[in-house]
Amino acid sequence: MTDTPFTPRVFSGIQPSGNLTLGNYLGAVRRFVEMQNSGIETIYCMVDMHAITVWQDPGDLRRRTRELAAAYLACGLDPKKSILFNQSQVPAHAELGWVLNCVTRLGWMNRMTQFKDKAGKNAEKMSLGLYAYPSLMAADILAYKATHVPVGEDQKQHVELTRDIANKFNHDYKVNFFPEPEPIIEGAATRVMSLRDGSKKMSKSDPSDMSRINMMDDADTIAKKIRKAKTDPEPLPDNLDDLAGRPEARNLINIYAGISGQTPEAVIAEVAGQQFGQFKPLLADLAVAHLSPIANEMHRLMGDVSEIDRILGDGANRAAEIAEPILAEVFDIVGFVRSR
Ligand code: AMP
Ligand code: TRP
Repeated sequence: MTDTPFTPRVFSGIQPSGNLTLGNYLGAVRRFVEMQNSGIETIYCMVDMHAITVWQDPGDLRRRTRELAAAYLACGLDPKKSILFNQSQVPAHAELGWVLNCVTRLGWMNRMTQFKDKAGKNAEKMSLGLYAYPSLMAADILAYKATHVPVGEDQKQHVELTRDIANKFNHDYKVNFFPEPEPIIEGAATRVMSLRDGSKKMSKSDPSDMSRINMMDDADTIAKKIRKAKTDPEPLPDNLDDLAGRPEARNLINIYAGISGQTPEAVIAEVAGQQFGQFKPLLADLAVAHLSPIANEMHRLMGDVSEIDRILGDGANRAAEIAEPILAEVFDIVGFVRSR
């Protein structure tokens, strides 16, 4: 990690807007666990306020927030080592979000590719929240003066925007208050693609369930999805360069590498010459062996929702203890009168 005058602190978040996917797991949650176990202070959030930037049925949002908490725990996050909570329980996110809305420039927001992708031709019908969301994300990170943000490839632009916002705040108010947080994008699978279309990201919101592996899928479903994954008729080559132009094949190699903890180079050397009829069952066995215990643990944890809520409440108290003094300093810097 690079030198900064700020104490290293990790923050990241995931939206409870659908089923947690293998993409979230390989791109984000596995990194969360590694960073937790490296001894740095780690804060991981279920960003429910981000989720409602597009419509969420209230009952589904509640269930999915708890399911995401169960997934965090089942994947190895430990509430004794990391602060785990849902965003809406800590008001500092929304409050700092407003201040940062007034720092962020419209020109910057207009460059956000994720908004353009999500809004498509319907931008006029999208919520103001969806447009403003990267500035709330900056507030999530900066409310803790976090220095490192583990995310998948698709969030890089938002973390870079956070750096611009931190910089402009420091510059406008002539302070060295916020750190410029670094995105941490690591591993063999920082961008897991759809199983149906190698040019699209694997996403919780894809209408086709066959496009993704959900962390709560059972063994048969995982095996079926891998068996039916789109591929091509060519055998696997012995080097990654020869996978250029074969995005679906490359994706399955990356997934294998991500799950097994090998590099894609090592995997391709091992499976060189195989047809997909051979490789897919290997991948399915690996995925089932790795993911089934996690799914079982999630089901077990979901049997005691009150324990999950207790962990989130406790995490929120600890998060608020860090964020509130930072927010108070922001209010002082900005010139808000604080008299209560
Ligand atoms: P989201 O599901 O959009 O809230 O994303 C939560 C985290 O998972 C972020 O760090 C994303 O970058 C990461 N992520 C989501 N989808 C993928 C994917 N298909 N491949 C790798 N990382 C992903
Ligand atoms: N925007 C992120 C996503 O959709 C989730 C998120 C919200 C986040 N706040 C964050 C990620 C802060 C890292 C840090 O994936």
